[in-house]
Amino acid sequence: MSKRELTVVVLAAGGGTRMKSKTMKVLHQVGGRSMVGHVLSAVRAVEPDRVVAVVGHQRDQVGPHIQEWVPDAVLAVQESQDGTGHAVRVAMEALEREGTLGEGTVIVAYGDTPLLKGESLRAFAAEHEAAQCAVSILSGVVDQPAGYGRVVRDDEGEVLAIVEEKDATPDIRDIREINSGILAFDAAFLAEALPQLDNDNAKGEYYLTDTIKIARDAGLSVGAYPIDDVVQTAGANDRVQLAELGRELNSRIVTRWMQEGVTVMDPATTWIEADVVLERDVTILPGTQLLGATVVAEDAVIGPDTTLKDCEVGTGARVVRTHGELAVVGAGATVGPFSYLRPGTVLGAAGKIGAFVETKNAEIGTGAKVPHLSYVGDAEIGEGSNIGAGTIFANYDGAAKHRTTVGRHARTGSNNTFVAPVAIGDGAATGAGTVVRQDVPPGALAVSSGPQRNLEGWTLRKRPGTAQAEAAERAGTSAESQVTGSGTDGVGQRLGGEGES
Ligand code: UD1
Ligand code: CA
Repeated sequence: MSKRELTVVVLAAGGGTRMKSKTMKVLHQVGGRSMVGHVLSAVRAVEPDRVVAVVGHQRDQVGPHIQEWVPDAVLAVQESQDGTGHAVRVAMEALEREGTLGEGTVIVAYGDTPLLKGESLRAFAAEHEAAQCAVSILSGVVDQPAGYGRVVRDDEGEVLAIVEEKDATPDIRDIREINSGILAFDAAFLAEALPQLDNDNAKGEYYLTDTIKIARDAGLSVGAYPIDDVVQTAGANDRVQLAELGRELNSRIVTRWMQEGVTVMDPATTWIEADVVLERDVTILPGTQLLGATVVAEDAVIGPDTTLKDCEVGTGARVVRTHGELAVVGAGATVGPFSYLRPGTVLGAAGKIGAFVETKNAEIGTGAKVPHLSYVGDAEIGEGSNIGAGTIFANYDGAAKHRTTVGRHARTGSNNTFVAPVAIGDGAATGAGTVVRQDVPPGALAVSSGPQRNLEGWTLRKRPGTAQAEAAERAGTSAESQVTGSGTDGVGQRLGGEGES
């Protein structure tokens, strides 16, 4: 059998008032994509010949968003939402205008069913085409059919009609086989049936589902194929349902990654969005969110309590209690706990970004370390260098941002400030508390804190009677005044506390 032409119509015109949102329903996000983005991704997977999206509410946002997913999608504008039948008529008219009406099969899907999979659409289209039906229903058997159109069959099991909840008798309401909303049509039959629809029903809408009765009356065959995994066709009408579908989607994604060889210690508190890619033997600890286009390589361990968005983590790296966005962590590097990686952070292989360190637009070389309590902004740190605890890369002069460069294998002291623009050369060093305002040549030691003076006996003179004074007294000091200390250039002091670890 030669492959029939395939047209997919996606209905996305409804406003979704129950979302109570300024954002249109199908644009609400779940699993890192809009709901309609998930649907279009499934639609793309079946490689249709054409896609038509019916847009109405907020079409200025919805239309371009749809074309981000399917650039050549035809947008059909439905000015008022007069029913699913009306929406599909609008879609067909748009195709007619484009001169691409086509033959073969037309599948109608909704824009708010984020769990839908391409393989389910493909299987449904194949069943429809094999049975040569005028119209086929992707149905589902559910425990709670309330709200859905019911699939009415005769004693032989032949499908007679879909009856909407509001138009149903109590007997029909008892039927548990429902219309998922996804229908497949023979294009020629659809073109004939659409003009025959009326709105003589409880909702006063043109029901697409009335096409089933039209087919039967014309002696054409109708199929209904229950999908086992009904959740795939579930829509989210409000934020409660959105959260439920989000949880289900997440659980499916997490399960899939575990099946692919990822260890997830606590699936219930692990969130992985649809576009994330994980390699084998990655370990994810509780409370971790991997978002956007994040990629994690083999043997890396992420978490606990870590959020990474659009990040790249190298083989065997370790990222603990960290918040990161648009950052790259090299192979074997360690990050955290309590690190904040902002966009443009690139940590080299075996490098370290330690506790309470914030980085932004910073390239930290192979094996280079920023272990403690620092801000590294607009910087480049050469391989093997160590930045002392409590260092601030002062990149902002109040008007503009400037860069700091630290060479290779430099050792900078604790509590330094690098006032950008400034450069510290290869193999250079700085003393504790240095404020670096001028470039430090390679191999030089920069010291800027003043010489230390000790005012001996100060505590006994100024704080008599305190615990501090008692301790000083017990240590054998007297109240005699005398100034002692190191030299005048400060170089004699211990450099102290490079913070290497
Ligand atoms: C529809 C089906 C019902 C099925 C259910 C599954 C009809 C008449 N009924 O009912 O059998 O069980 O879906 O969820 O088809 N839309 C438009 N333009 C319109 C009307 C709707 O774009 O004029 C879009 C909506 O945005 C929505 C979808 O079509 O995404 C379904 O419309 P809705 O009004 O929610 O249909 P239901 O009453 O749920
Ligand atoms: Ca609905």
